[in-house]
Amino acid sequence: MNIDFDKMDITRTPPTEEPDRQYYFIAKCKQWAEAFKQETGRIPTACVVTFGCQMNAKDSEKLVGILEIIGYTMTSEEQADLVIYNTCTVRDNANQKVYGRLGYLNNLKKKNPYMKIGLCGCMMQEESVIEKLRTSYRFVDFVFGTHNIFKFAEILYQTIENAGNGMIIDIWKDTDQIVEELPSERKYSFKCGVNIMYGCNNFCSYCIVPYVRGRERSRSPKEIVREIEQLVADGVVEVMLLGQNVNSYGKNLEEPFTFAQLLTEVEKIEGLERIRFMTPHPKDLSDDLIEVMKHSKKICRHLHLPLQAGSTRILKAMNRHYTKEQYLELALKLRREIPDLAITTDIIVGFPGETKEDVDETIDVVKKVGYDNAFTFIYSKRTGTPAASMENPVSDAEIKQNFDRLLRVVQETAKQRAGLYAGETMEVLAEHLNEQDADYVTGRLSNNTLVHFKAEPSVIGTIVPVKLTECKGFYYMGELVSQV
Ligand code: 5AD
Ligand code: SF4
Repeated sequence: MNIDFDKMDITRTPPTEEPDRQYYFIAKCKQWAEAFKQETGRIPTACVVTFGCQMNAKDSEKLVGILEIIGYTMTSEEQADLVIYNTCTVRDNANQKVYGRLGYLNNLKKKNPYMKIGLCGCMMQEESVIEKLRTSYRFVDFVFGTHNIFKFAEILYQTIENAGNGMIIDIWKDTDQIVEELPSERKYSFKCGVNIMYGCNNFCSYCIVPYVRGRERSRSPKEIVREIEQLVADGVVEVMLLGQNVNSYGKNLEEPFTFAQLLTEVEKIEGLERIRFMTPHPKDLSDDLIEVMKHSKKICRHLHLPLQAGSTRILKAMNRHYTKEQYLELALKLRREIPDLAITTDIIVGFPGETKEDVDETIDVVKKVGYDNAFTFIYSKRTGTPAASMENPVSDAEIKQNFDRLLRVVQETAKQRAGLYAGETMEVLAEHLNEQDADYVTGRLSNNTLVHFKAEPSVIGTIVPVKLTECKGFYYMGELVSQV
């Protein structure tokens, strides 16, 4: 980002075009931060707390990128001058967590007259949440949603100007606008998430995401490739392509372009060594994609393939558009075509009407696929989704029993898969110093398994050969193989 915000003319009226308008407000906020320093003798601090998925993590990086340019010092302490919760609403407990922590923030605010509290993310797209905030959480200073996150600098400036005059609420119901080219934090110098599309059109009957993230819209392949080339020039060796349903990538572009084609283009970028992506939907995972993955030297050997349920009856009620048999056929084809692929999944237990026999079907799929890992969730009713109005005759106790039964099988299968590569030498992207012992570095195999090995910190950010000496549950201990 080569913009000199200090030299920008901010005496004029704000531009109407994006992202120029936001650059203008970043410069305005920057001027405010300078004045804050003069007044208080210190630099303002900010803390962004992220709940939920990788998309939210990426959004938070965008917020932090802007805050850093404005001149905030970032901190993980919530005793800051600005605290932003980037919320998730996929399950109700995520909402409850936010309400619980807001009370604590209010106490902190009473002690710091400069403190501002902001809320954003998926939870803010729910009308009932906004009503509750309006009536019971009036100490919150500003609220924005997922569709207008690019307006963050403008909303923050409004909040600063508005000081003490009530909550600023700016929520859009939907948008087809994509605004990029804004500053973004880079948590790691060597790996980075890249949004390839936003929203979801699938409407799985339990899921709130299509209502809070809106309709699918894809970025152009040219823009994505340009962004990745820039990242690689800045030292990135691994990218994670992000979308709620990456197989639908490109369907709504003027010139349709498939996800498999996009991967082929990204693969060509020189200097890029690893490509990951999140999340494909089993219903439209094409043979083309399997072919591209199979022959790729860069696409990582890990596929997250959400199952959600193994019973065809429940899958139909979930509106997933595949049967148990179709899913199994796909997973087994993947195992056959790409034998070193790690497959992970998401499973929901307790969907309305799901019986013990239905869960047996799920367990059957888990055993047949042999997942490397599976995230299991208890169904959470989300207001406004079709499943919310479905009766559930199954008791909570039965659901819990089913959940525990499934979890046991998931753990057993994952244990069997772990350790498959003990004794082999494999490439590891060294990511950070080991948290327990700084003589060790922690990295990841292409299949996403963690490896701890003794090495100098200088290896961080590079891909090195490591002999996997011992498997300890879900990670390996290894020895760096000298490269002569
Ligand atoms: N209840 C429980 N889990 C859910 N997920 C999505 N919606 C719900 C819900 N209402 C899970 C799905 C999805 C993951 C991100 O969250 O398994 O893949
Ligand atoms: Fe939700 Fe289904 Fe879209 Fe995933 S594909 S975000 S589960 S609606």
